[in-house]
Amino acid sequence: MPITTIVEPFRIKSVEPIRMTTREQRAEALAAAGFNLFKLPAVDILIDLLTDSGTGAMSAEQWAAIMRGDESYAGASSWFRFRDRVQELTGFQHVVPTHQGRAAERILFSCIGVRGKVVLSNTCFDTTRANIEAQGGQAVDIPTPIANDTQAPHPWKGDIDLVALERFLGERGAEVACVVHTITNNSGGGQPASLANLRAASAICRKRRVPYYLDACRFAENAWFVKQLEAGQRDRSVESIAREMFRLADGATFSAKKDGLANIGGFLASNDDALAAQEEQLLILTEGFPTYGGLAGRDLDAIAVGLREVVDEDYLRYRIASTKYLGDGLRRHGVPIVEPPGGHAIYIDAKAWLPHIPPEQFPGHAAACAFYIEGGVRGCEIGTLMFGGLDPSTGKQRIAQKELLRLAIPRRVYTQSHIDYVVEVGREVAARAMELGGFRIVDEPAQLRHFSARLAPL
Ligand code: F0G
Repeated sequence: MPITTIVEPFRIKSVEPIRMTTREQRAEALAAAGFNLFKLPAVDILIDLLTDSGTGAMSAEQWAAIMRGDESYAGASSWFRFRDRVQELTGFQHVVPTHQGRAAERILFSCIGVRGKVVLSNTCFDTTRANIEAQGGQAVDIPTPIANDTQAPHPWKGDIDLVALERFLGERGAEVACVVHTITNNSGGGQPASLANLRAASAICRKRRVPYYLDACRFAENAWFVKQLEAGQRDRSVESIAREMFRLADGATFSAKKDGLANIGGFLASNDDALAAQEEQLLILTEGFPTYGGLAGRDLDAIAVGLREVVDEDYLRYRIASTKYLGDGLRRHGVPIVEPPGGHAIYIDAKAWLPHIPPEQFPGHAAACAFYIEGGVRGCEIGTLMFGGLDPSTGKQRIAQKELLRLAIPRRVYTQSHIDYVVEVGREVAARAMELGGFRIVDEPAQLRHFSARLAPL
């Protein structure tokens, strides 16, 4: 018999207790949080799958690097270790350190100039879209059409639609500020883009002289899928595939809170001298001096080490296997998920699962609340609560294309038995799925409403 247990390729030397709660305690905590899972105190959560961002466990080597951190204001040796690793991995000459991914986005879109222009993407993540809109631009998603079919077991749902890209750039190229390819495609389902698609998108953008950027938050997970699933890539190292991916692009934004294996940090990188000079000025104004950019020296060192560890193939095999394990378990209990399982998360298809709850009553959010009440598991709605609200270009309420509950898996934090528990919670929620009700918004802010809106059950 083949051995199928996923052995975590690490052992645990420091533990953090998690607290058991009762269903009554959880119901009370959720009501006190205005039925917004972002407002729950973390001590009231048993398994936290809200995000894989900044929630990973650092390695012994990263903690050692933390002690090596050089906190000099300018020219710290931590900076050079960080910059050297980013340059080696990405090939980009200009590296702008930022405190996290969205700071890189804000600086990029301010400097590249998106006002009155369009940014094309396979799918912009919510902070990316919000930063484009905040600068007066418009984000237009052109994912590969099959990505809209949540059940198709197509491996490359992170691809950009090349026909739409070619057409848009042909007809309205002058309006396009840049193209941002999100790898893996977080909002679409955590699905990878193929190297073939990245190569073709890069060639189209270069021909049209439109900057082609990667939102590279999960580049290593994307590269692992390429190695496993794409013809002719199996004999390459993940590092080599990742290096090629970055070299196809003109620049990248990066949140080190994902595949940087760090708790904070990010960067913006490119080979554009004039743009980088402008970005550095804005960095100094709002983030910090160019050799630390809003981070402590120790953070830069932790990221430099994380960017090496994340391409370790034993780690990536475990990482992607454990995500699939959660997906397989939920599917077994009749919970529909976005197929195939993505890299960092499982996305429950709440539209298919809870057809009796219309999008404007937030079915993904109803599923999220049910997972919390049932077993203290916190996930995140990615649907009309996140992407709805007033559309500034039409003046109408937006309805999202998909209604998803994302269960994102922090890196190196939970073991197979934690995941087994989440699967059992899913089984219990599934048993009474048809009894779940929707929600309405009580009050909401103007932007990124899912973080702070208060809701009430209907
Ligand atoms: N781009 C993508 C694809 C992301 O997933 C995120 C963050 C960002 C940009 C922004 O990076 O948080 O460091 O400012 N995603 C987190 C998530 C928040 O839960 O998926 P940040």
